Amino acid sequence: MKLFLDTANVEQVKEIAAWGVLDGVTTNPSLVAKEGKDFEETVMAMCDLVPCVSAQVTATDFDNMVMQGKEYASWHKHVVVKVPMTTEGLKAIHHFTNHGIKTNTTLVFSVPQAILAAKAGATMISPFIGRLDDIGEDGMGLIEEIMEAWQWNRFKTEVLVASTRHPRHIVEAAMLGAHICTVPYEVFKKLPMHPLTDSGLEKFLSDWKKVQK
Ligand code: E4P
Repeated sequence: MKLFLDTANVEQVKEIAAWGVLDGVTTNPSLVAKEGKDFEETVMAMCDLVPCVSAQVTATDFDNMVMQGKEYASWHKHVVVKVPMTTEGLKAIHHFTNHGIKTNTTLVFSVPQAILAAKAGATMISPFIGRLDDIGEDGMGLIEEIMEAWQWNRFKTEVLVASTRHPRHIVEAAMLGAHICTVPYEVFKKLPMHPLTDSGLEKFLSDWKKVQK
């Protein structure tokens, strides 16, 4: 499973990329607004660090989605155009696919939406599991259903588990065979940690000190 960082902060991407475990980045308009930096510069800087950076269109009609997406794709070959799961979005995804531009369908909350995006040719789809959990639904259950549907069909579209909230989400996504999981910075920082690793290392080092002359 590929691991992406869900952020618009270039320093965070630098830090996690240095671990040698980062396959890409997902951004969205809210994350970009939080950082308050120039969008193009941010995307370009991230593209120099990882091979896949999702940049979301903010237009809602086909013509303007296509115009915006084409511009993003011209910035760098690592850009993936992120398109919302609407009927205009499906048309734009189909257009981008026919023109060799990679897409990530965002705001996917159901299996029918996932299937339509795959049929339109999306490179990846982003089901938002945390937001489903937030309203009392079963986010990971959606991933389970999508992965089962994917087993019976021959969709090339990768399933990107989005809106993750804690490390267990990453474990469950991997166990269900999801292709990609995008993880917020605060959650990513928790992934290498285990109290037994810390106490074990402390003991090894203090024992080692005892035998040093
Ligand atoms: C994914 O591409 C989205 O940017 C993200 O995972 C949304 O997560 P949120 O529900 O925590 O905002």
